[in-house]
Amino acid sequence: MRTLLKNIKGLVGVFDEVPRHVAGGEMAKFPMLDDAWLAVEDGVVVDFGEMSAFPGIADWSGLTIVDAQRRYVIPSWCDSHTHSVFAKDRSEEFLMRLEGATYQEIAEQGGGILNSAKMLQAMSEDELYEDALVRIHAVMAQGVGALEVKSGYGLTFEAERKTLRVVARLKEALPIPVKATFLGCHAVPPEFPNAMAYTKHVVNDMLPALLSEGLVDYVDVFCEKGYFGMAETELLLNAAESHGIKSKVHVNQFNEIGGVNLCINKRSLSVDHLEVCGSEAIQALIEGVEAGSLEEAHPTYPVALPGCSHFLGIPYTPARTLIDAGLPLVLATDHNPGSAPSGDMGMVVRLGSLKMGMTPLEAIAAATLNGAAAMELSHEVGALGRGHRANFILTKPLEGLQELAYRFTDPYVDKVFVNGEIWEA
Ligand code: NIG
Ligand code: FE
Repeated sequence: MRTLLKNIKGLVGVFDEVPRHVAGGEMAKFPMLDDAWLAVEDGVVVDFGEMSAFPGIADWSGLTIVDAQRRYVIPSWCDSHTHSVFAKDRSEEFLMRLEGATYQEIAEQGGGILNSAKMLQAMSEDELYEDALVRIHAVMAQGVGALEVKSGYGLTFEAERKTLRVVARLKEALPIPVKATFLGCHAVPPEFPNAMAYTKHVVNDMLPALLSEGLVDYVDVFCEKGYFGMAETELLLNAAESHGIKSKVHVNQFNEIGGVNLCINKRSLSVDHLEVCGSEAIQALIEGVEAGSLEEAHPTYPVALPGCSHFLGIPYTPARTLIDAGLPLVLATDHNPGSAPSGDMGMVVRLGSLKMGMTPLEAIAAATLNGAAAMELSHEVGALGRGHRANFILTKPLEGLQELAYRFTDPYVDKVFVNGEIWEA
């Protein structure tokens, strides 16, 4: 299977050597070739260049030609933070919010995560799998070409295991890379006296068993007032470290309790949410990037989830400040039934520009290469380097990339390519 796309208005995210991520001022300069061509063979990018230097076609056998006039090619979205395996939606809680209750008040009354857990515990693995597959196929049609999926709506060993087994089946079934994150510490189940007692169960009983089944790539914890505090977060991160796995952590969503500094010290792969992000947290993130570059290891990626800010009406992560401080900001959806019921990365990119002041190329870099980096996948997806998977979006005709956010409700996806082929569920 060979495809040549020619007359591409802008070929975005092309590199001779794909870096792990782009940071700070590099994000606005995310590379783009104007009036370009892209050659794909056996599922991977084999070459690209400017039309003015197009070498011609030597071998026409089995070649499909796509004339991309006025259309852009963008690497597929890499969604590094989702809760895509869940039982049912929680639209009745949304109605309660419209009638005056806050997200936190609903959670305190047994709604929220505990409500999702009750519903998930009652559902079969097969049903959960089928529903998640439909959900992920839908976001793939919108251009998602790699994603992370968290557990965390189980909250018992059996239900967390069931969720992670669903994620393992998704890995097998889907033609795109999927990472599995164990978020046992998402909320404290009512049968436990306190957060520490439950965290000890997660660390001592659940984590080793789930790891031994090969079901876990990363761990996560909801580090937040009323959920898991610093002591519980530290216990979990220490356990992860002793098992040699990395963490991606929910921090600073509603309150700043010191989680960012802890995660930087523990070399977490990412700190996600950061809607409340004071100068101390920003300083810690800067030091985290410096430490990462010294060891030639990954930094701790700051991940913004603007769909959650939009849906809950909470502050947006200060993207401008973080990028201007030189950080490799990531954008992801947080797709979940409570705080962000949408897996639409295009909308996230649009919010990046509309609400967080990001330029089109900054928002695209954050949602592609940097998202891949936050899943340790940037050697494979998130950019269009030779040998990278040919996962990309061919846009509708656009005058410029700013039109993505400018026409913020217009469809912008013409075709989605997965492993070099036009993707249809
Ligand atoms: O990332 N904050 C923690 N977890 C999810 C929301 C959970 C829910 O409401 O179901 C989030 O926002
Ligand atoms: Fe989340």
